[in-house]
Amino acid sequence: MQRETLESIKPEVDFLPLNGTDHIEFYVGNAKQSAYYYQMAWGYELVAYAGPETGVREKASYVLKQGKIVLILSTALNANTEISNHVNTHGDGVKYLSLWVDDATKSYEETIKRGAKSYMEPTRFEDEHGYVIISGIHTYGETIHKFVERSNYNGVFLPGYEKPTHKINSTPVGLKHIDHCVGNVELGMMDEWVKFYEDVLGFRLLLTFDDDDISTEYSALMSKVVSNGNGYVKFPINEPADGKRKSQIEEYLDFYGGAGVQHIAVATDDILHTISELRNRGIEFLYVPDTYYEDLLERVGDIQEDVADLKKHNILVDRDDEGYLLQIFTKPVEDRPTLFFEIIQRRGAQSFGKGNFKALFESIEREQERRGNL
Ligand code: FE2
Repeated sequence: MQRETLESIKPEVDFLPLNGTDHIEFYVGNAKQSAYYYQMAWGYELVAYAGPETGVREKASYVLKQGKIVLILSTALNANTEISNHVNTHGDGVKYLSLWVDDATKSYEETIKRGAKSYMEPTRFEDEHGYVIISGIHTYGETIHKFVERSNYNGVFLPGYEKPTHKINSTPVGLKHIDHCVGNVELGMMDEWVKFYEDVLGFRLLLTFDDDDISTEYSALMSKVVSNGNGYVKFPINEPADGKRKSQIEEYLDFYGGAGVQHIAVATDDILHTISELRNRGIEFLYVPDTYYEDLLERVGDIQEDVADLKKHNILVDRDDEGYLLQIFTKPVEDRPTLFFEIIQRRGAQSFGKGNFKALFESIEREQERRGNL
């Protein structure tokens, strides 16, 4: 494992300054019903809507917010559209990992100059609340990075969106912000995409995990984590590695139909509260055996939480030289074994839970086995 500190990236050479994640847009089969799930189970608030009632003819989009996290769920209204074809190929999944920038034109020009493939030239959208500039470039699979410049806009979300006319009383579960978004790419492609983030977006390689770190009896994977200059945006990239049986990354690639977003990690300040709420509302998490907790304190040292509480909710703990973190992973949130969520609480640690990989992957393999995909 290798590690570099973020201090080594000098702000004056950061040609792509990012303020963070602007939003994550999913293409889904039925956005109305997905929006209900994210409101009732996950506690997001519906803050904006675009669709036929607001003059949009080809799609319906629901904008959900909790803390700083903004998700959009978009669905096609007709066959043979970009969205319906995407859903047909991939199932429900992430289309846009959109980044919040001060200058979407410069972000586009700097990345195109360095080899990015254009998705959308800088385009101005406006309404009575001001204007935004949005541009976009391709990344792995059919996933897109949009650059969103919104300093001259004060409407409900973006031009074209309106306040929803019908809202459910959702109760937040304490989700604060996006911690990291992980991509799965094809065998042999991890280093190419790491190079893309380094060369084209000015990211820096933070961590490398090889199959010594992440292998179980059956399967293995390789992972590298890239971060932007200020550390607000972190993208781990996984590829399958040879194991006895089909790796979880291969299962994803088979069912997603190629590279795509594997999981989104969302941060909380109180993971025990967040997870007990989510469990009450029916969210399913990966199971780790009770033996994981037997020698937990010997492995991670003193922690503020009660081990019995962590065990009750199946929350994992890992420590690095800066502190510790608590984390847990959902089962896939669609019928295809593709995208899942991680809930993470950082108590100092800036790493990704390497000490939990083995327990975690054995748990994922138990699920793969149940699906007949191991
Ligand atoms: Fe993660």
